[in-house]
Amino acid sequence: MAQILIIDDHDAMREGLELLLRRRGHRTLAAESGARGLEFLEEHGADLVITDLKMAHMDGIEVLRLVRERSPETEVLVMTAYGTIEKAVEAMKLGAADFLTKPFSSEEFAVKVERLVREREERERLRRENRSLRVENTYLREGLGEDKPPRYGEIIGESTQMESVFRWIDRVSRSDSTVMIYGESGTGKELVARAIHASSPRCTGPFIRVNCGALSDGLLDSELFGHEKGAFTGAERRRRGRFELADGGTLFLDEIATVAPATQIRLLRVLQERELERVGGEETIPVDVRIIAATNQPPEELLGGNGFREDLFYRLHVVPLTLPPLRDRLEDIPVLTRHFVSKLRDRTCSPVREVADGVFDVLRTYGWPGNVRELENVLERALVLADGERLETTDLPVLEPRRENGSNGASGPELTRDGMDLNQVVEGMEERLLREALRQSDGVKAEAARLLGLKPSALYYKLEKYGIDA
Ligand SMILES: Nc1ncnc2c1ncn2[C@@H]1O[C@H](COP(=O)(O)OP(=O)(O)OP(=O)(O)O)[C@@H](O)[C@H]1O
Ligand SMILES: [Mg+2]
Repeated sequence: MAQILIIDDHDAMREGLELLLRRRGHRTLAAESGARGLEFLEEHGADLVITDLKMAHMDGIEVLRLVRERSPETEVLVMTAYGTIEKAVEAMKLGAADFLTKPFSSEEFAVKVERLVREREERERLRRENRSLRVENTYLREGLGEDKPPRYGEIIGESTQMESVFRWIDRVSRSDSTVMIYGESGTGKELVARAIHASSPRCTGPFIRVNCGALSDGLLDSELFGHEKGAFTGAERRRRGRFELADGGTLFLDEIATVAPATQIRLLRVLQERELERVGGEETIPVDVRIIAATNQPPEELLGGNGFREDLFYRLHVVPLTLPPLRDRLEDIPVLTRHFVSKLRDRTCSPVREVADGVFDVLRTYGWPGNVRELENVLERALVLADGERLETTDLPVLEPRRENGSNGASGPELTRDGMDLNQVVEGMEERLLREALRQSDGVKAEAARLLGLKPSALYYKLEKYGIDA
C-alpha cells in the first residue's frame, strides 16, 4: 500500500484514477493543479506522484522538476497525450520513473503503478538495511567501503593535487563526519559534495542541496527547518524543511558564509543536538542527516569577524578540504578538455572528434579565474564555432594571458625543448583574433578592421587568406 498523489486538471480522469487506486488499497490524494499538488506533497508527502503533462498554468514538466527537487525519493509517473512522445522523452530525462500514453486501459495503469510501488519499496528496504549495517558494525562498514569501487562521479583530474582530493573523498565517504569544502568559484565543490554522498553508506538516501546565498534570511529559515501552519503571514499550511527531507541522507549547505546570524544559531543547535523545531512549532523532530557545507571564502576570512559565528565554524570545520584552483594544476587541462569535448559534443552538435595539441598549449597560458566552470564554458563556445573534426587553436576565443605576481608574465605558447613552428603559431593566433574581432563587431568588417588597427583592405586580404566568411 502506497501514498499516491494524482495531479490532473481533468475532473473525470482524476476521479477515475483515484477510484482505481483506492480499490487496490492505496491511499490517494488528488489535486486539480500543479501548484495544489505541490502543496499536498509538502504537507503530506507521497511515495508516487502521477501527473498529467498538459495542464493550464503549471505544466507537468514543471511539476516533475519541482517534485524531483523537493522530494527526491518520490517517484513520478507522467501521463501524455497520444502523439506527444517528445514530451514523454523529456520527462524521462528529467527523472520521471515511467510514462503512460493516453488513452490507456486500467490494467496497463495498474501494472505500471504496482511495478513502481514495488521497486520503490525494495529500494527503501535496501536503504534501511544499509543504514542499520552502517550504524551497527564499523568493521563491516570498512569492508563495504573497500569492496565498492570508488565513485567520484564526473570529477576529472590526474594532477597530484587531484589525486589527494580523491584519496580524501575515499576517507571521508566512509565516515559520517561533517565536512567543509573550501575553494574558489568553479573548482568543483558541488561535484565533490555529490561524490562524497554517492560513495557513502547514505548513498541510497536523498542528497539535498540548499543554496544559502539565494534565499532571504526569513525564507532560508523556513526552507531549512520547515514551518507550521500560521507560523507567519502566508504560511497557509505546514511545510517540511530541507533537514527533514534529507533524513537518512546528506544535506549540502552551499554558500554557507552568507547565512544570517539568527539562522546560524538555529543551525548550530541542529548540529549539536541533531534535532529541530519547525518555524512556529513546538514539536521536536529528530534528524539523521550528514552535513556537507561549502564556501568560496577561505577559512581565515570566515573567521575574520565577518559575522560568522566561531562556534558554528568549528562545528562545520570538522573535516575541511580546500579544492585547488585550476591555475595551480594546469597539468589537468588535457584530461579536462577531452572530458568536456566528449561530454559537450552532442549537445553542441559539433563535428569535433579530436583536439590539436596546440589547443592545450594555449589553454595552459591562461589564469582561469572562473576555474573548471570557465574552462567548460570556453570549450562549449569553441565547439559551437568549430567546423572541423579537429579542434584547433583558431576555434578558441581570445583569452587574456595569465598575469604572474601582478606583472605581465608569460603570454602565449612557450618554446619548449620539442621546439615549435613559429609561423603556424603566429598564423593560428592571427586567425583567432580575426574571428574574435568579427564576432565582437557582429560581422561588420569596417568595425573589425578598426578593432584590429588594420586598413579595411588589409582585413579583406587576411579574411581571404584564412578563408574566413564574415
Ligand atoms: N574536476 C572536475 N572535473 C570535471 N568537471 C568539473 C571539475 N570541477 C568542476 N567541474 C565542472 O565545473 C562546473 C562547476 O563545478 P561546481 O558547481 O561543482 O563548482 P563550485 O565550486 O560549486 O562553484 P561555485 O562556488 O561557483 O558554486 C560544473 O559544471 C562541474 O561539472
Ligand atoms: Mg557551487
